[in-house]
Amino acid sequence: MPKVFLTGCAGFIGSHTSEMLLNKGYQVIGIDNFDAYYSRALKEENLKTQLNHPNFTFIEGDINDYAILNALPNDIDTVVHLAAKTGVRSSIADPLGYFKANVTGTQNILGWMQKSRIKKMVFASSSSIYGNNVKVPFSESDNVEQQISPYAAAKRSAELINHVYHHLYGINIINLRFFTVFGPRQRPDLAIRKFIESISENKPVTLYGDGSSSRDYTYVGDIVQGIFNAITYLNEHENVFEIINLGNSSPISLTEMVNILYELMGSKPNIQYKPMQEGDVNRTFADIEKAKRLLKYQPSTPFKEGIQKFLSWYGITGNANK
Ligand SMILES: NC(=O)c1ccc[n+]([C@@H]2O[C@H](COP(=O)([O-])OP(=O)(O)OC[C@H]3O[C@@H](n4cnc5c(N)ncnc54)[C@H](O)[C@@H]3O)[C@@H](O)[C@H]2O)c1
Repeated sequence: MPKVFLTGCAGFIGSHTSEMLLNKGYQVIGIDNFDAYYSRALKEENLKTQLNHPNFTFIEGDINDYAILNALPNDIDTVVHLAAKTGVRSSIADPLGYFKANVTGTQNILGWMQKSRIKKMVFASSSSIYGNNVKVPFSESDNVEQQISPYAAAKRSAELINHVYHHLYGINIINLRFFTVFGPRQRPDLAIRKFIESISENKPVTLYGDGSSSRDYTYVGDIVQGIFNAITYLNEHENVFEIINLGNSSPISLTEMVNILYELMGSKPNIQYKPMQEGDVNRTFADIEKAKRLLKYQPSTPFKEGIQKFLSWYGITGNANK
């Protein structure tokens, strides 16, 4: 039974990844330090579905703690590295913390992989790396030298270190650039969840900017399928270093997004506008041709359907089933 070391397993995408791997018959050793960016209680809730699974082992700890990595079993097949300090805006207030977790942390994982002769890694990169790219859709061959937040620069730095370890030590790596992921257990700081919470409490929704900024929202189930396909690709190929977008290739403006939420929740719009926030990009839009070609990735959950799944998970019926 193949063994995966999964970092960030108590997080939003990590907990879905862990569930998916266990369902596919993998053994999972997960690590998470319950980073204080959002509540520990939510992360403990995320972990609930896996904790009692016989093939799941949880380690509470920091990826920067080399002693923890060193004590791991020596038959790990693949690393799925999702642990990170997340959130573009708060990285501006704490750039050092973000670099320590996201860059030094990745370096630590790579150093341990080299020493332990682990040869395969799937890494969670981000669409934020494209900054305010003018050309759309964003493709992996676009120039990515102009990030606009410490979070994005840290993710790009990690991609670069990953390449060094591929070049020097033959570690095969797929960097997946995720585009705004949403769905059940979504992080509480992300717009969709915040808006749904405000609407359900009859509070106004705060939009930053004039509502024309757009995001290529991608359903978490599609992302997790992409992660699985990346693991499969690594199992079937030699000498791999790839950067691959995982998006939906169907951007939606902030105004459209919030109107869909009001419609599905059966509420009357009540919107407050505030200026665009530092670090936020104007739009994201993934070119997913490479993901289709290499990973046979095919996102299959349209935005409205994904929101309906989020609402039922959250316990809101509203107009969700109409
Ligand atoms: N959600 C998105 O839209 C999105 C988009 C692009 C990229 N990503 C990336 O995908 C990954 C997962 O994101 P998410 O939305 O699930 O975020 P999340 O914050 O829910 O999950 C990240 C997890 O990593 C853990 N963590 C942080 N620092 C750690 C450390 N030093 N040691 C051990 N664990 C640590 C956190 O406690 C958290 O549980 C991250 O790398 C993120 O940057 C997410």
